[in-house]
This record gives sequence, C-alpha cells and structure tokens, in this order.
Amino acid sequence: MIFNLTEEQLAVQEAAREFAQKELLPGVIERDREMKYPRDQVRMMAELGFLGMMVDPAYGGGGMDSLSYVLAMEEISKVDASCSVIMSVNNSLVCWGLETYGTEEQKQQYLTKLAPGEWVGAFCLSEPEAGSDATSQRTTAVDMGDHYVLNGTKNWITNGGTSQVHLVIAQTHPEKGHRGINAFIVETSWPGVTIGAKEDKLGIRASDTHTIMYTDVKVPKANRIGEDGFGFKFAMKVLSGGRIGIAAQALGIGAGAYELALAYAQEREAFGKPISQHQAIAFKLADMATEVEAARLLVYRSAWLKDQGKDYDMASSMAKVFASEMAMKTATEAVQVHGGYGYVKEYHVERLMRDAKITQIYEGTSEIQRLVISRSILSGTPYVGVI
Ligand code: CAA
Repeated sequence: MIFNLTEEQLAVQEAAREFAQKELLPGVIERDREMKYPRDQVRMMAELGFLGMMVDPAYGGGGMDSLSYVLAMEEISKVDASCSVIMSVNNSLVCWGLETYGTEEQKQQYLTKLAPGEWVGAFCLSEPEAGSDATSQRTTAVDMGDHYVLNGTKNWITNGGTSQVHLVIAQTHPEKGHRGINAFIVETSWPGVTIGAKEDKLGIRASDTHTIMYTDVKVPKANRIGEDGFGFKFAMKVLSGGRIGIAAQALGIGAGAYELALAYAQEREAFGKPISQHQAIAFKLADMATEVEAARLLVYRSAWLKDQGKDYDMASSMAKVFASEMAMKTATEAVQVHGGYGYVKEYHVERLMRDAKITQIYEGTSEIQRLVISRSILSGTPYVGVI
C-alpha cells in the first residue's frame, strides 16, 4: 500500500494552497457577510485550470486524475467553501457528466467552454417536491419531434445565476417513472429561462444559489444527454462522483478548522500556560486530528477507486457521510477551542462551522448516503476495500 502522492499531485496541492492563502483569504469574511459572488476569484480559478481539472486537454481541461482534484478541493475549502462549491459543481457534475456521457458535438459545443472556465455550468435536479426523492420529477420535457418543450421549477441551484449552461433533469414519459426521465443541456440565454432571487443562506453565502423557472423552453433534440430515458441514471452516476468532490470540500472545512484551532491553542494562554498544554484542549486537538485523518483516507480512497476504474458508488457515499459529519463536529469544536473569539467573524471558525452544515445536505443528505451504503452492503455487492 503506497500512500505517497506523485510529484504532479504535490504540485497541484501546493498551487491550490498558495492560491487559497493569497487570493481567497483576503476578503473571504466580507464576501460571506455581503453574499458577494467571488467573480474575480472564479476567473482566477479558471486561469489556474481548477474548473475543468479532470477533462481531457483536447477539450480544454487539465487531464488530471480525481485525486489531484480532491487535493485542490481540500486546500481551497480550508479557506473558502463558497469558491470550492462553484468549482466542485463545474468539475464533477457538469464537466464530468458531459465528458462521460455527451456526444462529440455536445463536447465540442459546450465542454470546450466549460472546462477552461470560460463558461460555468449548473446541475439542476432538485425541485420544490423532489429533493432526496429525486425520482419524483415534476419538471416536464415534452417530445415535439425535433425538439423538447421544457416546463418546471428547480430549487437550490448552485451557480444558478452565474452559469451559461444548465444540465436539467426532467420527466418525458411519466408512465415509465424514473425510466422516463431525461437530462438536457440548456443554455441560460434561451427564451423561457428565468432566474429567481439569490438565496440568503446559513453558510457558503458567497456562492450563487437560486431557484430557476423554465417556461416553454425549446430544447433541441441534439441537447438530450444519452438515450431516451437515461436521465435518472445519468443523474445518479454524476452524483456518485460529485459526492467525492463534496467529501473533499468537507475534509477541507474540517482540516481548516482543526489547523486554526491548533494554532490558536498554542498561542492563547490561560492559567499561566498555552491552552494546548491543558489536557481538556489537548485531547480535543487529538480527536480532531484523528478524525480529519480518517476522513482524508476515505476521501482519497474514493478518488483512487474512481481513478482505477473500479466501482466507487458506495465508497463515495462513505467518504461523504463521514467527512461531512467530521467537518460539522470539528468546526464546532474549533469554535469551542477559540472560546468567545470563536463566536466572532474575525477568527474564521464560525464561518467554517456554518459552511460545514451544507455538506451534510447537498448532493445527497447524510441519510441518503446511509441509504446508498446500507443497500449496497445488504445487496451482497462485494465490498470494494483496499485489500
Ligand atoms: N448508478 C447508476 N444507476 C443508479 C445508481 C447509480 N449510482 N443509483 C440508482 N440507480 C438506478 C437504479 O438502478 C434504478 O434503475 P432501474 O430501476 O432501471 O434498475 C434507478 O436508478 C432508481 O433507483 P432506486 O430504485 O434505488 O431509487 P430510489 O428512489 O429508491 O432511491 C436515491 C434513489 C438513491 C434515493 C436517489 O433518489 C438519490 O440519490 N437521492 C438524493 C438526490 C441528491 O443527491 N440530490 C442532490 C442534488 S444536486 C446538488 O446538490 C448539487 C449542488 O448544487 C451542490
């Protein structure tokens, strides 16, 4: 078992760390407070190749492995989880979905703009009445011969107001249930696409989350992804990989909170010595470090399985549920270590605590991850472990 990262992976990690410290840290508190979309920072992420990391260079991507993507996500999430969710959706949901299941024409038309970050994409699955129960799609795509007509509402869409392309999941044949669902590439400039107000959220406040309405949107048949009825499987496959990205985001939030708590505990004195020298705090730091490391192993392993071409559905759910629960717990403990300072914005940990919460909700709640894991182990699917 080899735990060493390659030189290329170490270089990606270092580049992401430096970018996060130099370009994301200044202004992160203000962007969070004012819900200000990080337009300049997203442009810089595009220039650095962080928006289409795994895409074939032939389409303008970085041609990197999933582990490199996870390493970059972790470093960026330590500092600014609003930026990392923008990055995650474009990389693992939109670009990966198009590269894996799109036609050559779709890739030439869309992926070549999305991978270099010239355009940004959004993934539109959730609806007012279809969150965890994603098969209950009410958005309809009626087949009109050479095109579809799309009608419906999507909720909580990351990159909703700033994207040029949406991947929209919609029901074409209601009588077939989830086997009648399709996925479409929709340009946001098309008539009938309306962007609702930006959500005022607990965390990841600078990211751009909107309700989207589609009213009689004409979608060319060439913009359907895959065979007729492939849309639900498309969404599930895309989300399996997406969950690795969100697990890496959670890992970064937890690791960032731990690193801040460690530094603070070594500086802050109480009862005549640094608080890290008090067992009450030292043991908290020990637990935080152990749980961050355990999450890191699960997250890296799920990316490694994907890179090896092995099944990673259960592994990505395990990584996401564990890392997101670790992030929530570690960030809460980091606030506790900081005491009163932890409760004010200047020290960053309260933001990390608020940001951590969403990782237990989006791209499948912790409950849905446990559903996927339990179904997998109970179905007798051989456990794809390290050994
Ligand atoms: N790969 C391929 N196919 C899959 C699959 C996978 N990983 N998981 C399920 N499927 C297929 C099944 O084989 C089945 O197809 P067949 O009947 O043809 O065999 C079909 O999908 C339906 O599966 P189930 O019978 O298991 O459906 P279910 O309703 O019982 O459960 C679910 C499905 C796992 C709960 C699913 O609805 C789910 O993952 N829900 C959570 C949705 C989610 O993650 N939303 C996130 C929103 S996107 C987001 O947050 C992005 C953002 O902006 C940050």
